[in-house]
Amino acid sequence: LQGVKFRNFSIIAHVDHGKSTLADRILESLGAMGERDKRDQTLDTLELERERGITIKSTPVRLKYTRPESVGEGAGEEYIFNLIDTPGHVDFGYEVSRSLAACEGVLLLVDASQGVEAQTIVNAYLAIDSGLEIIPVVNKIDLPAADPEGAAQEMEEVVGIPAEDAIFASGKTGAGIPEILEAIVQRIPAPSGSADAPLKALIFDSVYDAYQGVLLFVRVLEGKVSPKDRINLFSNGKNFEVDRLGTFSPGLIVGQSLEAGEVGWIAAGIRDIQDAQVGDTITRTDFPTTEPFPGFKPAQPVVFSGLYPTDTEDYRKLREALERLKLNDAAFSFEPETSEALGFGFRCGFLGLLHAEIVQERLEREFDLDLIATAPAVIYRLTMTDGEIIETQNPAQFPTRDRMEKVEEPYIKMSVMLPEEHVGAVMQLLQERRGSMVTMNYVGKRVELIYQVPFAEILYDFHDRLKSISRGYASMDYEIIDYREGDLRKVDIYVNNEIVDALAVVVHEDKAYSLGRKIVDKMSEVIPRQMWAVPVQAAIGGKIIARATVKAYRKDVLAKCYGGDISRKKKLLNKQKKGKARMKQIGTVEVPQEAFLAVLSTE
Ligand code: GTP
Repeated sequence: LQGVKFRNFSIIAHVDHGKSTLADRILESLGAMGERDKRDQTLDTLELERERGITIKSTPVRLKYTRPESVGEGAGEEYIFNLIDTPGHVDFGYEVSRSLAACEGVLLLVDASQGVEAQTIVNAYLAIDSGLEIIPVVNKIDLPAADPEGAAQEMEEVVGIPAEDAIFASGKTGAGIPEILEAIVQRIPAPSGSADAPLKALIFDSVYDAYQGVLLFVRVLEGKVSPKDRINLFSNGKNFEVDRLGTFSPGLIVGQSLEAGEVGWIAAGIRDIQDAQVGDTITRTDFPTTEPFPGFKPAQPVVFSGLYPTDTEDYRKLREALERLKLNDAAFSFEPETSEALGFGFRCGFLGLLHAEIVQERLEREFDLDLIATAPAVIYRLTMTDGEIIETQNPAQFPTRDRMEKVEEPYIKMSVMLPEEHVGAVMQLLQERRGSMVTMNYVGKRVELIYQVPFAEILYDFHDRLKSISRGYASMDYEIIDYREGDLRKVDIYVNNEIVDALAVVVHEDKAYSLGRKIVDKMSEVIPRQMWAVPVQAAIGGKIIARATVKAYRKDVLAKCYGGDISRKKKLLNKQKKGKARMKQIGTVEVPQEAFLAVLSTE
C-alpha cells in the first residue's frame, strides 16, 4: 500500500439534518451509487430503515477522489476515502462511538434552518473524545428559512471551531460538495499506524451472511491481515481462520489483504454474532498485539419487554423468528418466559425503545406474527433483607417492600436543546419525572439543559410530552450513567378480580396512586364491554389503590347497519376481526394490546 493516501471519516448530525442525503451527493460526485439508490436495489436491507428514514446499520463505502485542477498544487493526486456511516438514534450511541473510533475525522452537519440540536452536541463531544478532526458543515442552505451564519456561530459556541471554518452546503443542490471533498484531504489527518506492527483491528459493526457466516466490519489500526491468518478475538479469546476479506465499494469487494489505515470486512467462518461484538479488537495469533483498542463494552440490553403470541399455536414460530433476528443483532436478547395470564412467551432485551419497536415491527411484518407486548421496563438492582443482591427487569417478579432492604434503579444523563421560551415548561416536565438539573447553557438563543433522570421515567410517553410542550422544538439525547436508590413499588393490576401478572408495573412510591388510577381508567376504556360488569383494580401489596369498571353491554357491530348494504357489513366485520387478532383471553375477559400498554398512554 506504499503511497496510497487514505482518509477515513464519518458524518455525524442530529436526526433529519440531512446526513444520508449529503452522503449520497458525495458518493455520486465520486462516481459511486447513492446510498438510497443502493438500498432500493438491495433486497436485504431493512425495509423499516427506509420507511422511517433512519439509519440503523452502518454501511461503509470506499471512494476514490482525484484532486481537481482548481486546487493548483496537488492537482491530480489520488486519495482513497472511507466513509463510515453511523446510526442516527440515541439507542445506538455506543455503535456511533465505535464507528467514530474507526475514523480520523468527521463532518459535523447542522441544518441551516434548525441550528445546533441535542444530538449535534452529543455527537460532537463523542468526536472530540475520540480525538477526531471536526469539519463543521452547515447543510440545507437552499432552504428559504436557512440562516447559515447563525448555525455556524452556534457551532463555534458549542464545539469551539471558528465559524469561518464552516462549509456551507446543500445535499439537495450539491452546493459545497467540492469544498467538502478538499477539506477532507486538507484537514483530516492521514491514518497513522504501521503495517509492520502486530495486527490490531477494531470491529465497528458486523452483519450475518447466510453463506459466509458473520462478516466483521473492521478498521485496521496496526499491522496487516490476509486470508488463512488465524485471528483472535480479545473479548472472549476465540480463534478463527480468515476465509476471505476485502473492502466496500459499496458492495463487498474481495481483496488480498487489509493493512493499517484501511477499512474493510473479514469473513472467518464465525457462526454466532455474539462472537463479533462491536468494539472488540482482533489480532493475529502468530503475531499478536498485547493491548486491545480501549473502551470495549459488550452489547447490553437496557430495556426489557415480554413478547407473547396472541395465538398460543404461534409460540414455536415466534421462537424461530427471534432466533433469526438474533443472528444479525448481537444487542438483542431473549429468553423463554411464562406468564400466568399470557401463557408461553419470551422476555426480550433491547438497547432502547426504538430498538424494541423495530424488533416488534419486524416480527409482525417479516414473520407475520400477531404479538402482545408488555410495557417496557428497566433493570432494577435489589438488595434483599438477607443481604443477597439480585437484578430483575420483570415487574411481575418484583418483590414486596418487606422483603427488600434497598432498591436501585438506572439513571441517565439527559441533554435537552430547546428555544428559551419553552424552558419553564420543559423544566417542569423533567421535575415531574424526578429529574435534577446539572447545568443550563445558552447556545445562541437556545438553551441546553443537562439533567439526571431515572431511566424508567422516560420510557413512559416522555418523548411525546417533550415534543408537545415545546411545539416540536425540543430535541434530546441521553446516556445511562449509574444506579441510585429509589422508593420503588410494584403496582399489581386485577381484571375481573384476578391478578394479571403481565400487567404489573414498578413505579416510584409518590406516583403509585396516580399511575394506578391512569392504568385502570385507560384499561376500562379499551377492554370491550362484556355481558357483565368487569372490575379493573390497581393494588400495592394486596391493598387496592384504584378501581374502575368496564360496563356491561355486548357490542353488536351489525346493529348499526341493519338493512344496510352487504359490503359495509363485511367491512365492519373485517375491522372487528382485525381488532380481535391482538386480543388475549384472560379468564373470561378478552384484553386488547392497548391494555397492556395502558401505562404508556399520554394523559
Ligand atoms: P437520519 O438517517 O435519521 O440521521 O436522517 P438524515 O440526517 O440522514 O436525514 P436525511 O438525509 O434523510 O434528510 C432528512 C430530510 O431533509 C429529508 O426529507 C431530505 O429530503 C431533506 N434534506 C436533506 N438535505 C437537504 C438539503 O440540502 N436541502 C433541503 N431543502 N432538504 C434536504
